[in-house]
Amino acid sequence: MEVIIQPDLRSGAALGACIMERLIRTKPNAVLGLATGSTPVALYCELIRMHREGGLDFSQVTTFNLDEYVGLAAKHPASYHHFMNENLFSHVNVRRDRIHIPDGTAKDIPAFCQEYEAAISRAGGMDLQLLGIGHDGHIGFNEPSSSLASRTRIKTLTENTVAANQRFFSSPQEVPQHVITMGVGTIMEARTCMLLAFGEGKAEAVAAMVEGPITAMCPASVLQLHPQAVLIIDEAAAGLLKRADYYRRVYANKPSFQQFSSFTLG
Ligand code: PGA
Repeated sequence: MEVIIQPDLRSGAALGACIMERLIRTKPNAVLGLATGSTPVALYCELIRMHREGGLDFSQVTTFNLDEYVGLAAKHPASYHHFMNENLFSHVNVRRDRIHIPDGTAKDIPAFCQEYEAAISRAGGMDLQLLGIGHDGHIGFNEPSSSLASRTRIKTLTENTVAANQRFFSSPQEVPQHVITMGVGTIMEARTCMLLAFGEGKAEAVAAMVEGPITAMCPASVLQLHPQAVLIIDEAAAGLLKRADYYRRVYANKPSFQQFSSFTLG
């Protein structure tokens, strides 16, 4: 796992966007796994700026989102469909027929999940999966105790995650208890995984992911087994890492051919 510590969210998001830009410019038909939540918003702003000012072209890009709430229609303001439209898709030239987000209103959820996996395979698999991390170490909505080999499926959220998500809904009763999420095994098949985490509140989860044991109790820890996982965090999120100085040293002394890493090239 490559751990890149940036001074703050702004520089971390800018670096993440540069990595995605490089991938899209190198491989215009890249397949991107995308994430929602507060973490990737600044990165998406940067991609929009690159599209507007630098001509970054999304016309051949295919996207697959990690997750969606069960029971929420695409137009619901708290749905991840809505989030992605607001924060990225409506501002860049990605083709609607190349956007994939789990359908929270699917009648037959297991069949839908199977088809979502099949669509990822047909697209050739994800070149890069963007990830955030939950306070409990979840990736996607794979809560602690999720199988590290899991595939896209329905999950029941923990009470803490439901509480954390309440801020996006007008009342606690409205917050869905279930989601459709890519599995840990699905995420692990992306050729590159790029996880972003900012703020002191994420420090414990980051330390468990990077320096703790690989365990289903911290699903993000499985990224230790991923051949090309890059973690971009700010100083606050790095606060509990025992080997932070070493990660800084590795990044500062990267041979020039490794700058920006080969990890975007799949
Ligand atoms: P956040 O959520 O980006 O809103 O902190 C991350 C997550 O729960 O995966």
